Amino acid sequence: GFTRSFSSSNSLNAVKTVTVIGGGLMGSGIAQVSAQAGQNVTLVDLNAETLQKALKSIENNLKRVAKKVHKDDVAKIDSFVKDSIARIKTSIKVEDGVNSDLIIEAIVEQLDVKQQLFNKLDELAPQYTILTSNTSSIPINAIGSGIKRKDRLGGLHFFNPVPVMRLIEVIKTDDMSEETHQTLMEWGKSVGKTCITCKDRPGFVVNRLLGPYSAEALRMYERGDATMEDIDIGMKLGAGYPMGPFELCDYTGLDTNKHVMRVLYEMTKEEVFRPVPLLDKMVAEGKLGVNINCLSGDASAKDIDVAM
Ligand code: 3HC
Repeated sequence: GFTRSFSSSNSLNAVKTVTVIGGGLMGSGIAQVSAQAGQNVTLVDLNAETLQKALKSIENNLKRVAKKVHKDDVAKIDSFVKDSIARIKTSIKVEDGVNSDLIIEAIVEQLDVKQQLFNKLDELAPQYTILTSNTSSIPINAIGSGIKRKDRLGGLHFFNPVPVMRLIEVIKTDDMSEETHQTLMEWGKSVGKTCITCKDRPGFVVNRLLGPYSAEALRMYERGDATMEDIDIGMKLGAGYPMGPFELCDYTGLDTNKHVMRVLYEMTKEEVFRPVPLLDKMVAEGKLGVNINCLSGDASAKDIDVAM
């Protein structure tokens, strides 16, 4: 499980320093799993308050992990948490994070903002630095369209909650070198995740399949075929999902789901991704989900939106 501790890989290209840009839900989770695996992490966010909240949430989640590994050994729990936290530096300046082997961007899901950031990183970071995005729906090629190091551009797509979900989708752009691909796969393994490789296609693997699933659940409910509760129970007990589609939508955020679906619809024009009126209505009413409870209670819906 996610509680195992992993030693870093010994390959020549092994990543030892990571910069995570964006201190929201996803960014803080990525910083946490990196630090607990022994990486030196720089967490960058333009907002100092977001960084403080991120550190608090990382500390709380590290305690949960530590308690599972070290049971009642208070001294070991304390040192695991302290040592991991000590590996995380924070900064409000991107410039402070450019000298890393790997940079993972987890900022707002807006193409132009991401492009600007990647152009800046390409300019400032050393040649060896690999630039990646945690985007859930924007093509990596578009994000990196203005950069020169196309062989060192890729996606590292994590899942919420990052400390628990064991997958990383490694997005392999057409220009990514084999060496970069290998380095990313090894890095993912070294932070305790299983990596799958996916081309730079709309929704990659997981969201491409989860999108139609949750849209169909919403349409089923809209038609009055079954209650939300029964649909959730159905998928949990009949298909073995840990959460039903409505619980999951609540957890990942209704606004995030709407956003992912809209982007997938624009890119694929497939009917199955057509916006669902019920979801639009609920988001317009500010009903964004209960995901906040599932963290440590200290990320706002806005931070979650930013992170995703
Ligand atoms: N940090 C550390 N540990 C955590 C944690 C966190 N943030 N959240 C939960 N945990 C731990 C708990 O301590 C618990 O450990 P234990 O079983 O050893 O005691 C374990 O995880 C399970 O947590 P809970 O008992 O509180 O609750 P559940 O058993 O209901 O599990 C869940 C919670 C892991 C969230 C589970 O319901 C689940 O897997 N849900 C589906 C999540 C999912 O599908 N995520 C992907 C969304 S899509 C996405 O992210 C892509 C993006 O692009 C949109």
